[in-house]
Amino acid sequence: MSRTFSILKPDATRRNITGAVNAVIEAAGLRIVAQKRVHFTKAQAERFYGVHKERPFFGELVEQMTAAPVVVQVLEGENAVAKYREVLGATNPEQAAEGTVRKLFALSIGENTAHGSDSDENAAIEIAQFFSEAEIVG
Ligand code: TYD
Repeated sequence: MSRTFSILKPDATRRNITGAVNAVIEAAGLRIVAQKRVHFTKAQAERFYGVHKERPFFGELVEQMTAAPVVVQVLEGENAVAKYREVLGATNPEQAAEGTVRKLFALSIGENTAHGSDSDENAAIEIAQFFSEAEIVG
């Protein structure tokens, strides 16, 4: 068993489809072992996506991530990081496979409905930004 960090992004909360996304997550065999709704500050969004700060889309990304609340989650399962990336599909919804979260729900490459960590190391770092161990209940 391992963990990954997930964010249901503002486009998901705005459209009231977080339950529909969770249904896809659970159908794939991942368990939601922690979950809360938060509204990212600009500083939080800039920190979270700091790796992209020199990219041309950074300003728009921060704007989109702070436009409405998000749902932050810890997901648990076998190979959780890789499994959830598979469930999400490609970053660009036009390239996402059938049945993936982004194919089903994403509006654009920026408003692509959900985030999933890209490595076990980053999953641990991202989880620690939002949850204490006591809040994660497997
Ligand atoms: P990235 O880490 O490359 O993708 P992923 O979310 O699949 O791990 O990019 C982070 C987010 O930045 C991505 O989910 C949406 C946004 N983004 C854009 O808005 N435009 C782009 O061209 C890229 C590559 C990402």
